[in-house]
Amino acid sequence: MFNFNNFFKKIFSADKVYLPHKYRSDDVWLASFPKSGNTWVSFILGNALIDYFEKEIEMNFDNLQKIIPDIYVSQDIPEKLGFGNTPRIIKTHELYRSEYKKSIYIIRDPKDTMISYYYYLKEGHNQKVGAFSDFIRSDRGINSWCKHAKSWINKYDVIISYENLKQDPRAEIKKILNFLSLDIPDERLNEAIKKSSFDNMRQIEKNSSLKWKKEHKMDKNFYFIRKGEVRQWQAGFSKEDLFFYERQIAAGGLEYFAKKYNYL
Ligand code: A3P
Repeated sequence: MFNFNNFFKKIFSADKVYLPHKYRSDDVWLASFPKSGNTWVSFILGNALIDYFEKEIEMNFDNLQKIIPDIYVSQDIPEKLGFGNTPRIIKTHELYRSEYKKSIYIIRDPKDTMISYYYYLKEGHNQKVGAFSDFIRSDRGINSWCKHAKSWINKYDVIISYENLKQDPRAEIKKILNFLSLDIPDERLNEAIKKSSFDNMRQIEKNSSLKWKKEHKMDKNFYFIRKGEVRQWQAGFSKEDLFFYERQIAAGGLEYFAKKYNYL
């Protein structure tokens, strides 16, 4: 059984290679730094695929692994997931690897990502993460985000951002559907987006069995669908934290990238 506590300690280490036992070069990797909106994108894609291929399965947390599998939950992934010729879409948090032949990279303002990650570890996993200022300076903090982004830049086929997804979800998801050659009519895509709204996903989380939370070693009282807002960092970053953030982005050579997405 996969140990999530070890995973969070050694995140992105080269100790273990996370690939399906039956690797396929046409697999599409849904890659992101933790807490960038991967589950949200998975729900929209899952709802769209279920509708398009007229599948009798509900998009919820218990079924997530059957629809958009998470490589950390199991490396034993069926060769076909039952959505016609659509390749398997597999979630990963790993740094870029050459085996990832096709990929979608999800980004979110690293400052909000840090806030989300902090509460996820502190309240979702009851980890001793210390003060927020210390957390962003730790090995799971901003440097870790920079390392992840640097490894993925220019390697992905499609990039989508959490903020754009908030603003214009249809346009953002269409980038993925075009890449997958899936011609889903707007009204059906709108429906998939509606089913995957923050409020609906929170309700689905409330109705889920605790199996999914147990599998992810998550506190049963923690809401994974937590806040879902942009600019949460404004209440969490001190002036010194912001200064530290800007310095790390510059040191990582990521100023151009961060400015392009309004993260600076
Ligand atoms: P917050 O902790 O800021 O609320 P990931 O799935 O990559 O771990 O990302 C989790 C983050 O995405 C959490 O952010 C979660 O609330 C947010 N999220 C999940 N579903 C969402 C939705 N439908 N709309 C907006 N945000 C969503």
